[in-house]
Amino acid sequence: MLEKIAHIKQEFSSDLAQANDAQALENLRIKYLARKGSIAALFYELKSVSPEEKPALGKALNELRTFAQSAYDDAKLKLEQSSDSTELPFDVTLPGRPVSVGTKHPITQTIEEIVRIFKGMGFTVATGPEVETDYYNFGALNFPPDHPARDMQDTFFIAKDILLRTHTSPVQIRYMEQHKPPVRVVIPGRVYRNEAVSARSHVLFHQVEGLYVDEGVTMGDLKGTLVAFVKQFYGSSVKYKFRPTFFPFTEPSADMYISCFICNGKGCSMCKYAGWLEILGSGMVHPHLYENVGYDTEKYTGFAFGMGVERIAILRHGIDDIRLFTENDLRFLKQF
Ligand code: PHE
Repeated sequence: MLEKIAHIKQEFSSDLAQANDAQALENLRIKYLARKGSIAALFYELKSVSPEEKPALGKALNELRTFAQSAYDDAKLKLEQSSDSTELPFDVTLPGRPVSVGTKHPITQTIEEIVRIFKGMGFTVATGPEVETDYYNFGALNFPPDHPARDMQDTFFIAKDILLRTHTSPVQIRYMEQHKPPVRVVIPGRVYRNEAVSARSHVLFHQVEGLYVDEGVTMGDLKGTLVAFVKQFYGSSVKYKFRPTFFPFTEPSADMYISCFICNGKGCSMCKYAGWLEILGSGMVHPHLYENVGYDTEKYTGFAFGMGVERIAILRHGIDDIRLFTENDLRFLKQF
């Protein structure tokens, strides 16, 4: 029987050397290692050998089985690894799928263009928090407590003195607290107002604030700066006018209008047949603001302005519904 064991070992080795694909290896396993294979058959024969011979034969047979099993396992692993490296599970010669690149939101584009023009006139950019205190949004901006001027803006309150800012003007105060004059800064950002959502108004929109404070700044500087801006933004043939208005934080205050570029001032649905479009609020910074931030009110003067970004983008692109900006509809967004 020892001879038989040696013979099977030899036969197994030569079969293994020739088994170089998965099917041949499987055949090898069935022939030698399976329940009805030749090694199992030898174990069956072992039952009928004499008790004296049994231990030595049993040992040799066990060795054969271990040897065959591990040689088979190694060969199988090797075969799997080599097929991994030559046969990739995908076709590397196929052309790649195009990666779709996003575009900038029209509001972002409009803000970037406004900021670019003011940067060209020496302004820097600052930002501030959207969750504000009553002090920065109203108090420091010269809105007295319980003054009806607060009704101009419907406010989302978070707690008694904490709110979502209703304009970017609080950043004027924050910026002046941190910087001494000369100050020349634009402040883009989101603002919130508690209004019914419709085609014309929304609870969330954007503003770009401007602030210029130095010695000897006049209303002439305000007009010159804003006229230079509208000419760059809307083209040099645009007509404009300033009209007196009221803000608690500026005195005097003026709204700026430009001639309607849809109808050229004749009157159309865009300008509601007025021929003019209001594009921003502005004014000379009220001295109370300087007191609140510790500026010398005798030494410094300045102007501030604030414009609604959605309004400007709507007018520019002829968009008829402000809600489109927040609906994430790619058919709308891809047009810009
Ligand atoms: N904060 C004002 C608004 O929201 C705009 C403004 C800013 C007016 C700065 C004057 C000066 O309507």
